[in-house]
Amino acid sequence: MTAKFPKNFLWGGATAANQIEGAWNVDGKGVSVQDLLTGGTVEKPRHFTAKVDSSAYYPSHTASDFYHHYKEDIKLLAEMGFKTYRLSIAWTRIFPKGDEKEPNQAGIDFYHCVFQECHKYGIEPLVTISHYEVPYHLTEAYGGFTNRKVIDFFENYCRVLFEAYKDEVHLWLTFNEINTALMFGGGYIQAGVPVSDGASIFAKITKEAKQKAFQAVHNQLVASAKAVKLAHEINPENKVGCMIAGSEVYPLTPDPKDVRLAQEQMEMNNFYCGDVHVRGAYPAFAKKYWRENDIHLEIDPSDAETLKNGTVDFYSFSYYSSGAVTVHPDKQEKVSGNMSAGTKNPYLKYSDWGWSMDPEGLRIYLNQVYQRYQVPVMIVENGLGAYDKVEADGSIQDDYRIDYLRGHVQAMKEALDDGVDLIGYTPWGCIDLASASTGQMSKRYGFIYVNRHDDQTGDYSRTPKKSFYWYKKVIESNGETI
Ligand code: BG6
Repeated sequence: MTAKFPKNFLWGGATAANQIEGAWNVDGKGVSVQDLLTGGTVEKPRHFTAKVDSSAYYPSHTASDFYHHYKEDIKLLAEMGFKTYRLSIAWTRIFPKGDEKEPNQAGIDFYHCVFQECHKYGIEPLVTISHYEVPYHLTEAYGGFTNRKVIDFFENYCRVLFEAYKDEVHLWLTFNEINTALMFGGGYIQAGVPVSDGASIFAKITKEAKQKAFQAVHNQLVASAKAVKLAHEINPENKVGCMIAGSEVYPLTPDPKDVRLAQEQMEMNNFYCGDVHVRGAYPAFAKKYWRENDIHLEIDPSDAETLKNGTVDFYSFSYYSSGAVTVHPDKQEKVSGNMSAGTKNPYLKYSDWGWSMDPEGLRIYLNQVYQRYQVPVMIVENGLGAYDKVEADGSIQDDYRIDYLRGHVQAMKEALDDGVDLIGYTPWGCIDLASASTGQMSKRYGFIYVNRHDDQTGDYSRTPKKSFYWYKKVIESNGETI
């Protein structure tokens, strides 16, 4: 193997506002849909409450308290040698309700401070504009992204961001894992679509809900295309990417029916949104899917042009695990907690949360998307959620995490050797934060341990784990020492 990581490869890590910041109601911040999702576990799913219930626990309210620890946190990221830091902006810090004309200055100022702290260490911020959150007022008053008016509010929010941070941010992502709204209830709630009080985030999408999910995603795709155009107009140096929840889906057997099923899942889970973002139009299979599933989208005559003019500069995605599918009921074996497609893959090992560990799948996925799109590709989430133990001497020996990441960095090297134009890697939850699927703090991904627990104890102190020193060497050697 001859390929090396490119000299300017963007090594870093990723977090999201609602999972790390805490401080959910300070300095004028409004309520986001995330602030209404309770904590849970795999067995006891998180659910949505229409109002804050004082007896319930909401992980986003406190999270890892990055809001008050960002200086210390960014210093630690710099110590690891980060070139980039992917973070998201809480829409509700900028527009508390979402439909105001003027932004909340305290929110704008907070992110100025964060970006300036990044630049102090030569770290380039990579900013997700909406990471699984929408101001809750937009859900209540407008129906979230099912309503086209929300496209305008989003565009206004983007304009404010692109102007305010013109000199500080040049790398942007529009919607985090935009495709998940089509896959399960959680993604749907996070797109701002109204659900009933008490709805579980793992709920299956009903037929009626499906119609709304597809409409919301269409409107988000239009909103994203408008954001890309605007970003380029405001600063031609801006590069904007899409963000897809990436998962490789395998046929469990060589039965052509299994192969076709896997292909269909790849299409609807990955390429449906990816094609619109990168190629600027819906693929043929999308139209067939709408027809066969009785989905009737409201598409404005101007949308085709908007989508065509707002294609992204690069393709980014998250990758944690792969899925396997089969049409043979006798071969199906459910994996609990696994949100990726289908049945257990006998060739893979699974995490404590039931997610398969499959570095080879990352190489396959990278090749597949690069061959399909021919634009630069970036992995903006990857990692192992695991229980960490603090030893008597205070250290955290997370060799399991190092093994997982090492496998994936190796797979990236192989993909580079295959010719994939891979430009960056930002493993997920580089600082411990609240899990999106279960809300747990105990599902840890970080290189940096945060002393905060599911029972809401802990002083938020930060400790580098063993993986911190491993990743520092990976970056120092530009991927040669893994
Ligand atoms: C992605 C999301 O789905 O996976 C993140 O973009 C999330 O927000 C991450 O945290 C890991 O999932 P989880 O459920 O383990 O936190």
